[in-house]
Amino acid sequence: MLMLWGQSPAQPKKILIVDDHVPMRKLIADALGQASDYQIREARNGQEALDVLKQDSFDLVISDVMMPGMGGMELLNHIRAVQSAIPVIMVTAHPATDLTVSAMKNGAVDFLPKPFDIDELTFKVGLYLKEKAFLDETEKRRKDTVLDLKARTEELSLRSYIYDAIESGADDTDRVFEHIVDLALKVVEGDCCLLAFFDDASKEFYPKVFSGNHDRTVVEATVKKLKDLLNEVVERKEALLIHSETRSEIAPSLICAPLLIRGYVFGVLCVRKKQYREAFTQKDLHYILSLTKRASLNIENKMLYESIYSNLLNTFKSLVTSIQTRDSYTEEHSFRMCQRAVEVARAMQCADDQIESLKIAGWLHDVGKIAIPDIVLMKPGKLTDEEYAIIKTHPDIGVQIIRHVILFEREVTIIQHHHERWDGRGYPNGIAGEQIPFESRILAVTDTFDAMTNNRPYRNALSVEVAIEELKKNKWTQFDGNVVDAFLTTL
Ligand SMILES: [Fe+2]
Repeated sequence: MLMLWGQSPAQPKKILIVDDHVPMRKLIADALGQASDYQIREARNGQEALDVLKQDSFDLVISDVMMPGMGGMELLNHIRAVQSAIPVIMVTAHPATDLTVSAMKNGAVDFLPKPFDIDELTFKVGLYLKEKAFLDETEKRRKDTVLDLKARTEELSLRSYIYDAIESGADDTDRVFEHIVDLALKVVEGDCCLLAFFDDASKEFYPKVFSGNHDRTVVEATVKKLKDLLNEVVERKEALLIHSETRSEIAPSLICAPLLIRGYVFGVLCVRKKQYREAFTQKDLHYILSLTKRASLNIENKMLYESIYSNLLNTFKSLVTSIQTRDSYTEEHSFRMCQRAVEVARAMQCADDQIESLKIAGWLHDVGKIAIPDIVLMKPGKLTDEEYAIIKTHPDIGVQIIRHVILFEREVTIIQHHHERWDGRGYPNGIAGEQIPFESRILAVTDTFDAMTNNRPYRNALSVEVAIEELKKNKWTQFDGNVVDAFLTTL
């Protein structure tokens, strides 16, 4: 027979013949033996057949109905409990319609009266075996599909877990690398993990995070030991899965994967299991690759964001500084505002991102004054209604200047409303109470306090005590009373 490479020869089908009558068992066995290469077992009654079925699996059962001890009908019921898919052909010398119906109801595939035509029996055996083989194959395919789907679902959910975990990870860059190491250990059930940075100029590796052991000499020794592998990862820009068969010093296996930004390797992540554990698989390598690729992208985005963010902030700070050349109060005032506003926010248990927004908004809140003419901005005396109307445009002008920067969306709103009043009599929109952004309510208090306690072109500084009294007097009219209370605790 021509057999393809890797294909195994078909196993003979296994048939169990159950009959208390030895000549009958022999007759059936001989007939089947002549028809095909079947593997035949015999049993004398239902109980013996059941014992055989519990130890081995069969492709077909031929059973007599009337036997001492456990008969064929009882055996049929038990077979459905043990091997439900196995076809059973019943034979009997005393066929009766109700018996036939009962046997078929209980799952017999056929019912043959004795004496039967031996050709008919061998024909039916062949038929039911083919049918079973077809059903087995269909069932196998169904199970394979279910398993395949299960594996794909697991893979997708793990990959989605990796992506989510990286996206929702720490903002602080150093913590990001610790997070990647923790995640790598978790995803492939590793025992230790090293993340080393690669310096292209010196071609050296610098350990950044090493799980479990913080002893510098151990960490450096590990980097030294792995250096040729790390170099290989940098050169090939590909991940490696190394087993102890190729590198005896590595047991049982190690995964090294590059961290790349725009095609340049800036680091390598190495994960290993302890000696007694199972080796990593291709699947583990695949997961680590998903993790390092996603982490690299995330780090690149963070670096890009930080660089854009700091460039923008510097640009706006220089705008604020340029106002100082006209009005020295603005820059110093902005600096003090930031500090005081942050203290109030901390006293009020604000979240870190809220405090960060407050810092930026504090710095930039009066950036719109750049468009206010000197004659108004630095007027020594009292402002006319028209001049005051011009001053009142500075929050909106500030918004115009920075509103195109999507990174500062929150800060734009805070700046816009820093002159609103709790009672709704402020500007530019006259909104009231909690309609005013919370951070703007903080800026309103710190802005007023700072303006009162410093010399202005139109009046001299008030004492801190007088300024405090002013703030208290204007609680729940000009200011959010809670913010005033929190502010007073920071003095
Ligand atoms: Fe202002």
